Amino acid sequence: MIIAVDGPTASGKGTIAKALSAHFGLPHLDTGLLYRAVGRQVALNGGDPDDAQDALEGCTFPDTLLDDPSLRNEETGGLASRVSVHPPVRDALFERQRAFATQAGGAILDGRDIGTVIAPEAEAKLFVTASVEARAQRRFLEMRERGVRVTLLEIADDLRRRDERDRERTIAPLIPAEDAMVLDTSSLGRDEAIEAAIEAVERMA
Ligand code: C5P
Repeated sequence: MIIAVDGPTASGKGTIAKALSAHFGLPHLDTGLLYRAVGRQVALNGGDPDDAQDALEGCTFPDTLLDDPSLRNEETGGLASRVSVHPPVRDALFERQRAFATQAGGAILDGRDIGTVIAPEAEAKLFVTASVEARAQRRFLEMRERGVRVTLLEIADDLRRRDERDRERTIAPLIPAEDAMVLDTSSLGRDEAIEAAIEAVERMA
């Protein structure tokens, strides 16, 4: 069984994908991490994330970079969102994601285009979303816990900018697959969202 979990930043899709992985005993790939590694590698190379050639050169990052804690920060998220608009970058990462999705026994992938591009044949597709306000509030609490000083307004602005870039790119834009179940987590707690996701997958698969 392939489970595709797509949705915008801070929608809860990562948490949901991890919980589904534990529940169904399937390996999980956070595909955002691949784009983050490309963005970080471009910065390490001294390249420009908006330049297609520089971005493509970032795709040859070493696997050890995937464990680097800096991949999780907001700055790298911004770089990832910029390199991910270049079609050659998406092509370069396609095979790796496709191989993970089609491994024997099944898999769960979370990202933006899993249900539409990487694994359109997935048995279960979730599109996890939430209002900008709810997502900004979650990110704010998460960052405050990590001791990062940032305002709610700055986070909301950044989320809106990233949503716009993800939605409006011409290739693999952030849109729900036609056969995806849309799960709005705005008013759901963590456990409620996970429970709703498990139920939805059981219905679809
Ligand atoms: O999900 P995460 O915030 O880690 O993703 C970082 C960025 O990578 C996103 O803003 C998006 O632009 C890009 N991305 C993508 N396709 C994916 C996963 C992430 O374009 N499948």
